[in-house]
Amino acid sequence: MNRTVRAARRLRGTIEPPGDKSISHRAAILNAIALGEAVVENFQTGADCLATVRCLGALGVRIESFTPGALRVQGVGRSGLREAAAVLNAANSGTTLRLLAGLLAAQPFFSVLTGDASLRSRPMGRIVEPLQAMGARIQARAAGTRPPLAIEGGRLRGIRHRLPVASAQVKSALTLAGLYAEGETVLEEPAPSRDHTERMLQAMGAPIVAGEGGLRVSPLTGDLAPLNLRVPGDISAAAFWMAAAAAHPDAELRLTGVGVNPSRSGIIDALRAMGACIAVEQERTWGCEPVADIVVHSSRLRGTVIEGALIPRLIDEIPALAVTACLAEGETVIRDAGELRVKESDRIRATARELRRLGARIQELPDGMVIHGGGGLRGAPCGSHGDHRLAMALAVAGLLAAGETTVRGAQAAVISYPGFWVDLDRAEM
Ligand code: S3P
Repeated sequence: MNRTVRAARRLRGTIEPPGDKSISHRAAILNAIALGEAVVENFQTGADCLATVRCLGALGVRIESFTPGALRVQGVGRSGLREAAAVLNAANSGTTLRLLAGLLAAQPFFSVLTGDASLRSRPMGRIVEPLQAMGARIQARAAGTRPPLAIEGGRLRGIRHRLPVASAQVKSALTLAGLYAEGETVLEEPAPSRDHTERMLQAMGAPIVAGEGGLRVSPLTGDLAPLNLRVPGDISAAAFWMAAAAAHPDAELRLTGVGVNPSRSGIIDALRAMGACIAVEQERTWGCEPVADIVVHSSRLRGTVIEGALIPRLIDEIPALAVTACLAEGETVIRDAGELRVKESDRIRATARELRRLGARIQELPDGMVIHGGGGLRGAPCGSHGDHRLAMALAVAGLLAAGETTVRGAQAAVISYPGFWVDLDRAEM
């Protein structure tokens, strides 16, 4: 599907971003292995989270939707999952595949996990190797590094593992395995990644402690308590509007009910470092997560350096930030973000290549990019590379560019933000 976006005269209004993708996956998976019923409101209905719901259904978990975005999960208890009769398809979703791999490695049955062409090209050695060290029997394509994964589940033992790169998917997969293992599992990361799994598991009564020496996971001795929750709005979805409003000369956008967990709010820090005018209002908590309304105004922007521990706090927002950086004065340098090369697309290459079509001056680095801002953008045809975040970042670029921008593969937005194109029409006034 092609979508044509014209330069926006003004950006005004209020947008309620969809439920957080990471939290929605976890709300479904963790409540599935709790004992009893949980109600999850504002569950994200993008294709990735629906893949998780489908896989859990195939494993014997009853999940029903009773009003739009509200799910009732009938938790089967820690030993209640059943062998699926067919291959489990995670589609485009790395979170589905990696978290379920950790969980299924500990179940007393056989599972096969696969995904679409993008997911089948993404690295899995990062979960396969530590799970094998815990005693898991897992085989995978390309010498154990790519899906499909065949898992002969069984007994595991705890390990101490230092993740080579900060990754919440890896940390969560090993945490799930650790809950079923014999002995303690200790996980250390080079920089903190998103901590939704830890927060939710603690609220459900799991024996896990997050501290200085890393995350310590002890074996479950009883069942997890079901957790009713309202999923906060996705800051990674809100980021597109934040990036657009900050860079547009006539903008004021209010984003309501957005999750502002410090492990995810790096986008606010990075945009503020560029001079963006951002107010965080009405701070409150929904269950175990902080939430706020975010108001962004037109701002005079300058380049900045985005690196180090900030990277995992905004890893999914870098395509949107790159667009904003094109409109900022001076140079923006993004480094320590080599992980972007193994996301749904090679996001360093794809972002640089597509924004160059719109006149951006971007130089690729092995682990990031240098964006020479100030030259403005001009509309042109460009493509999403089948990557949802790129499709939406290019739409934002289209709002900020002179003339008309046509985004090929625009339907990819449905992976994490099914209402994106509707919200775009609403913001563009
Ligand atoms: C996610 C973690 C991040 C992020 C992805 C979702 C999660 O990936 O990029 O979109 O839900 O845990 P990594 O853990 O691979 O960094």
